[in-house]
Amino acid sequence: MKPVTIDALLSKKQAGSPITMVTAYDVPTARLLSESGIDIALVGDTLGMVIQGGENTLSVTIDEILYHTKMVRRGLDGPLLVGDMPFLSYQISEEEGHRNAGRLIKEGGAQAVKLEGGEEIAGLVRRLTRSMIPVIGHIGMKPQAIHQMGGFKVQGRDLPGRERIINDARALLDAGVFALLLEAIPPSLAREITQLSPMPTIGIGAGPSTDGQVLVFHDLVGWSVGPAPRFVRSFGNVGSNALSALVKFKEAVSARNYPSTDESYPEKGASPPPMNRIKSKRKG
Ligand code: KIV
Repeated sequence: MKPVTIDALLSKKQAGSPITMVTAYDVPTARLLSESGIDIALVGDTLGMVIQGGENTLSVTIDEILYHTKMVRRGLDGPLLVGDMPFLSYQISEEEGHRNAGRLIKEGGAQAVKLEGGEEIAGLVRRLTRSMIPVIGHIGMKPQAIHQMGGFKVQGRDLPGRERIINDARALLDAGVFALLLEAIPPSLAREITQLSPMPTIGIGAGPSTDGQVLVFHDLVGWSVGPAPRFVRSFGNVGSNALSALVKFKEAVSARNYPSTDESYPEKGASPPPMNRIKSKRKG
């Protein structure tokens, strides 16, 4: 598939053509994103919640993001691959942040990194972009600041909050980000940032006016556990389909209906298995 480049994303903004971004943590998901023509695959630190079952994203390590980025790299054909910088992988020192971002590119095969933060990380963003590491800035609700915010709360509802987020956007753009991810802010604020930004904005819980939208894969396919935030729309029922398959498997095994003769290996000297089995790439 034609690789999505940063220039292509910029052209989409200029043409008013919406950008799509979805999280991926493994090969099968990477393949689905590729086949469906999604623009950006994000190996997000949400893996701490949707994969690891944590209450927030804080426990995720750079090694875990790296591990999943390598997997997604193997399954991806087309979408731009972005690795997320998890909590404390870049806040301790710029040097450490630089080294960790470099690992996602060099070892993981990511083509860009995403960092939560505004003005306070502009120095690091400048340093990364100067060393040829493309960066997406993540502002508004920053899940890594959950304890400072007092929970997952919509940001930028009052004037000082609004101004702070606009200043963050300007600082990151000035430092060289190629896109801004806007999370959980009022639609009017997202519209204002989208209008002032020469680079694409990608929203999650930020209303319809951003240049693109991002969702967590498990939320959008209907595979998440527990209540979803207001902005989530389930476009599928993967969870209930998988559950029904498991129940049918259990019933078939219990009733000794599985495996059938066709699903068992023939004894030595018996006629060969059907062609479709021989052509299968899987061993056996
Ligand atoms: O880490 C992540 O998965 C995210 C989502 C909000 C898209 O940033």
